Amino acid sequence: MDQQDTILVTGGAGFIGAHVSKRLIELGHKVIIVDNINSYYDASLKEARLKTLLKDTPHTFYRADIQDTDAMREIFARHKPTLVCHQAAQAGVRYAIQDPFAYGNSNLLGTLTILQLAKEYNVKGIVLASSSSVYGEAKHYPVKETDTTDAPVSLYAATKKSCELIAYSYHHLNNLPITCLRYFTVYGPWGRPDMAFFSFTKAAFEGTPIDVYGNGEMARDFTYIDDIVEGITRALEVNLPWAIINLGRGKPEPLMHMIELIETATGKTLKKRFVGMQQDDVKQTWADVSLAKTLLGWEPKTTLDEGIPTFAEWYKNYYGV
Ligand SMILES: NC(=O)c1ccc[n+]([C@@H]2O[C@H](COP(=O)([O-])OP(=O)(O)OC[C@H]3O[C@@H](n4cnc5c(N)ncnc54)[C@H](O)[C@@H]3O)[C@@H](O)[C@H]2O)c1
Repeated sequence: MDQQDTILVTGGAGFIGAHVSKRLIELGHKVIIVDNINSYYDASLKEARLKTLLKDTPHTFYRADIQDTDAMREIFARHKPTLVCHQAAQAGVRYAIQDPFAYGNSNLLGTLTILQLAKEYNVKGIVLASSSSVYGEAKHYPVKETDTTDAPVSLYAATKKSCELIAYSYHHLNNLPITCLRYFTVYGPWGRPDMAFFSFTKAAFEGTPIDVYGNGEMARDFTYIDDIVEGITRALEVNLPWAIINLGRGKPEPLMHMIELIETATGKTLKKRFVGMQQDDVKQTWADVSLAKTLLGWEPKTTLDEGIPTFAEWYKNYYGV
């Protein structure tokens, strides 16, 4: 990255997009944010990320849909971004039962639009948000980038894998530098209300019961938001010709440990309903993060024991509980 890059951040009102935008602005870049502020979860949290989290940082914001080729072409033509940080997507696994087309539209068509315009406007590099979900129920752990990813257990995972494949073809045909980052369960302040760390904290304060899937026997490689932001920033800086890289903590934590940490941080005991595994979910995630170290000089720093109290503190302040 040069000091004066113009970086288009898609999904910049989202959890990861807003944090990474803040960081890129602090590093001296000009940041153009595009987000359609959809109502998949409370849109006021997305507005608040822009208004509060990014309040002291000069950025340009467009409420636009990345599938809208005309609107996006106008944004590319006006700002001529030198780098693209593509975070916008229909995230979450379970919502596909309700609205499968949201995944096809935002993840497939939206990503195609961004890649095509990046090519037309000669951007010098793209970092694209992929997901640990592409590994499905892996045969061995920790998972490496060279492991097979051809048996996605959710539509979300299938679209994320497809994004990587479409991205590869754009790289191959146009020499476009692209790095796909596979994030592992990202958590932290300003997080996503549909994710367990958030909804369990909410339930703790509201005294409502939680459903613990997989009878509490699941484990996740929880990765703190600041570590993810550092990984994305480094990927933009290094701008590899083509890469797929895991960004995870590299240490799976039992779901029950996360629940205990939430109980300690909130001072509440959660009422738990133990339920079975969902078909679109996997028992465990666990990243091998050695490639990120080799290619990006990146290593995760924050443990779950440190990160959950920080999130709970943010939650208390933000919601005034
Ligand atoms: N949070 C995680 O644990 C995690 C893990 C793996 C991968 N990811 C990926 O990281 C990226 C960011 O995730 P997040 O957790 O910040 O989710 P998020 O939902 O908070 O952010 C995504 C943002 O994109 C916007 N968006 C969605 N569709 C759009 C469209 N068609 N046009 C314009 N804007 C659109 C949404 O309004 C939202 O603000 C996503 O690509 C997601 O799939 C996240």
